[in-house]
Amino acid sequence: MTGLRFPEGFVWGAATAAYQIEGAAREDGRGPSVWDTFSRTPGAVFQGHTGDVACDHYHRYADDVAVMAELGLRAYRFSVAWPRVRPDGTGPVEPRGLDFYDRLTDTLLDAGIDPIVTLYHWDLPQGLEDRGGWTVRETAEHFADYAVAVHQRLGDRIRTWTTLNEPWCSAYLGYGNGVHAPGRRDAGDAFRAVHHLLLGHGLAARALRAAGAETLGITLNLADVQPADAGSAADADAVRLVDGLHNRIFLDPLTGAGYPEDVLAHVSRIVPTDFVRDGDEKMIAAPLDLLGLNYYSPTYVAGRADGGGSDAYPGTAGSVEFLPATGALTDMGWSIEPAGLTRLLERVAADHPGLPLMITENGGAFPDSARDEQGRVADTDRTAYLDGHLRAAHAAIARGVDLRGYLVWSLLDNFEWAEGYRKRFGIVHVDYLTQRRTPKQSARWYQEVIARNGL
Ligand code: NOJ
Repeated sequence: MTGLRFPEGFVWGAATAAYQIEGAAREDGRGPSVWDTFSRTPGAVFQGHTGDVACDHYHRYADDVAVMAELGLRAYRFSVAWPRVRPDGTGPVEPRGLDFYDRLTDTLLDAGIDPIVTLYHWDLPQGLEDRGGWTVRETAEHFADYAVAVHQRLGDRIRTWTTLNEPWCSAYLGYGNGVHAPGRRDAGDAFRAVHHLLLGHGLAARALRAAGAETLGITLNLADVQPADAGSAADADAVRLVDGLHNRIFLDPLTGAGYPEDVLAHVSRIVPTDFVRDGDEKMIAAPLDLLGLNYYSPTYVAGRADGGGSDAYPGTAGSVEFLPATGALTDMGWSIEPAGLTRLLERVAADHPGLPLMITENGGAFPDSARDEQGRVADTDRTAYLDGHLRAAHAAIARGVDLRGYLVWSLLDNFEWAEGYRKRFGIVHVDYLTQRRTPKQSARWYQEVIARNGL
C-alpha cells in the first residue's frame, strides 16, 4: 500500500471560504450577506454562532499564508466575499474590500502559492436577497458584473477562476429546505435558484473569458448515488431521479447538453419552468477549462412507494428512500467511503471526456478531543480519511482520469454553516479564544505527502 506517486505537477493545496474564516464582518465597508442575517435568526445555526469573528483571517491572513508555506502547499483556494466588493450587491465597488484580496493574492504569490479564486461561496449580499435573491434573474446579471469587478483588480495575477461553489447547496438548502441561508422553503424557488445560479455562472464565465481569464471553472458537489440493491429496477429508478436532481441538472447544461428531459419533466410537475428562457442553456454552456469536484460521502437510495424522500430533493417523497449512513462516520454523521470518490471521478471522466478535473474539497470533521497540553492534535482519524481518499483519487488517475489536483477541506477549523464552530474540518487547529493556530498531525502528514508527491 505504499509508494503511490502522483503525476508531475499535480496541484496540492487546501481550501477555505470567506464567510467561514474571515470575520471582520463590518469592516472596510463590507455589507451584510444572507449568512449574517441567517446566523442571527433564532434556531438557524448551532447556538447562534455567527461569522462575525470566525478565524479572524481578515487580519491574520499573513500568518495563515505563512502556515500554508510551511506545509508546502502549492495552491490555495479561497473565496471572495461579494458583499465586500459590492456591499449591497448592485451599487459602487468598495475598493477597500478589493484591497484585502489584493494583499492576500500578493502574499500568496510571494510565498510561491498559486491562488485559486471562488467568486461565490454562498454569501449573497442581503440587498440582493431583499430583491428576490437567486429566485430572480437579475441576480445572475449582478453576479457577472461583480465577477468582472474582481477580475479587473486581480486578473493580472490570478490564473484560475471558479464561479460558484456547490450551487446544489445554494439552491436546495438555501431556498428548498431552509437549512442554509437565506432559509427559504419552497421547492419552486429551489429550481428557480438552480437556473439563475447556472445562468449567473454562464454570464460570468463568458465575461471573464472576454476579459482574458486564463482558466475558468465551477465547483460542484456531485453525488455518488448508489442503489441499496444493485439488482433492483425500482432502486435503479430512484438512483436516476436523485442523480438527475443532484448531478445531471448541473452537469448537462454546463457541458452543452441542456437540461435533461427527465429532470425537466420532474421539475415541471412542481413548478412551471418558464424561468428557462430561449438562449439560457446556450449561455450556461460557456466553455469550461476545469471542473472542480467536492466529495465527502456517498448517497444510497432505494425506490419505494412509501419512501419518505428528502426535503433536500423536491418531489422525492413517495418514490425514494434515502438510506441512513452506516459504518464508520465522521463527526458530521457522514459515512466514510473512499471508493465513492473513485466512482465519481471515473463517471464524470467517462461522461465528459476532455474536461480536466480537480478535487476542490475533500476532508473530514472529527471531534479532535485528543488535544494535549501543548495544543497538539493527534487526529489519526482525519489522517486516515485523507489517506484513504487520496488512494481513491490515485486509483482514478491510474484508470485514466485527468485529475489535476487535490485541495483539502479545510486549511483551518472554521464556521461550519448551520453547525457553527462545533464541527472541525481543519488540518490546522484554531483555538477560537486566542486565535492560535496549531497544525494537527494530519497537517504534518499532508506536508510529507506534498513533499514526496505521493503516499
Ligand atoms: C462544502 C462547502 O463548500 C464547505 O463550505 C463546507 O464547509 C464543507 N462542504 C463541509 O461541509
